Amino acid sequence: MSGQNTEKQILAMVLLLVLAVASLGAYTWFDNGRRTEARSEILTKDAQRASWTFANNCRECHGNDGRGSESDASLVGPALNTPNNTYAFLTDNQGQLEALQNDFRYTITCGRNGTPMPPWSIDQGGSLDGFKIDNLVTLITTNAGNAWETAVEHAVHLDEVTIENLHTALEAAEETLKASGWFVDLEAAAGAVARTEAADAELISLRDAVAAAEESGEGLDEAQDALAAYEKGYTALVLAAVTIRTSDDSQAVADATSSFNAASSVQQEVAMNRAWLKTASDYQAAVDNVNTAEERFAAGLPVPTPATQVTSNTCGQVSAELGDWLSAHSGSS
Ligand code: HEC
Repeated sequence: MSGQNTEKQILAMVLLLVLAVASLGAYTWFDNGRRTEARSEILTKDAQRASWTFANNCRECHGNDGRGSESDASLVGPALNTPNNTYAFLTDNQGQLEALQNDFRYTITCGRNGTPMPPWSIDQGGSLDGFKIDNLVTLITTNAGNAWETAVEHAVHLDEVTIENLHTALEAAEETLKASGWFVDLEAAAGAVARTEAADAELISLRDAVAAAEESGEGLDEAQDALAAYEKGYTALVLAAVTIRTSDDSQAVADATSSFNAASSVQQEVAMNRAWLKTASDYQAAVDNVNTAEERFAAGLPVPTPATQVTSNTCGQVSAELGDWLSAHSGSS
């Protein structure tokens, strides 16, 4: 009797124990799931934030979708959106992931000396704080929430606005051209400028003085200053000429005319031809800008073209050139 009872008690205890272990396991599994979910939510938020930073700062070199030179040879930046960069994350290889993230964080912070990759950290003269840089690293190494797709959406939006603005600028240039009565023949305009400038003895002698100073290496600053001062007068005359030809504000035209008339007749001719050249080239540039932008947009390329400059001396990096020089000139010799 009591033996049977003991057996039952043992059985109940074993069952309870099994239940306890099972529920602990289930809870751990559930909690892990929750943690993973929370973690992926954070990653997605970070990467989505970075998609905006990327569209604003990086795509001109690395492409709208981050595939860089891999998608188009005209892009100077390498692909960041590549399976290689998310592999460690997807396979849960923490060590590899951290090494990659550290490398990218450093590159974004400091730029790469001797390449067009600029430093982005505020400490290094860039525009991004550590939080934004970390988010960019998350975007590149996880693509959480498909953030590269969001980056493309931002890019399209930004470029549509840019193209709209370029059209507005073109309309303005077209109006100015029409009002001026000048026509677009840049060669003819440049020829007219050169012919009339040749009759401006003062301009010619100032230019000759600069050329002579360049040759002799003496008095260059003075000669350049004198030429610049004279040219400054022309800048004002050209603006006056454009106003006279294009403005419908009679007071502005009257003011421009009186300052224009104060110049010599040779100067007036030069200024008028330069004003023609400027009006025609401004219009031509506006046309070119719209065409280039629309072609790039249609090809899925970032509309802004990058201002590429070789990066140097950030985070104390030694440039490759200086490194070569140091290894050649220091040590045993
Ligand atoms: C003016 C062009 C330019 C801009 C703008 C630019 N990059 Fe780069 N980036 C480059 C170039 C070029 C390289 C390759 C440098 C080299 O040759 O090592 C590079 C390399 C990188 C690398 C290292 C890639 C690798 O596989 O090692 C990362 C990461 C990177 N850029 C991120 C960014 C981010 C993020 C931004 C925006 C905040 C950005 N870049 C903006 C040109 C640019």
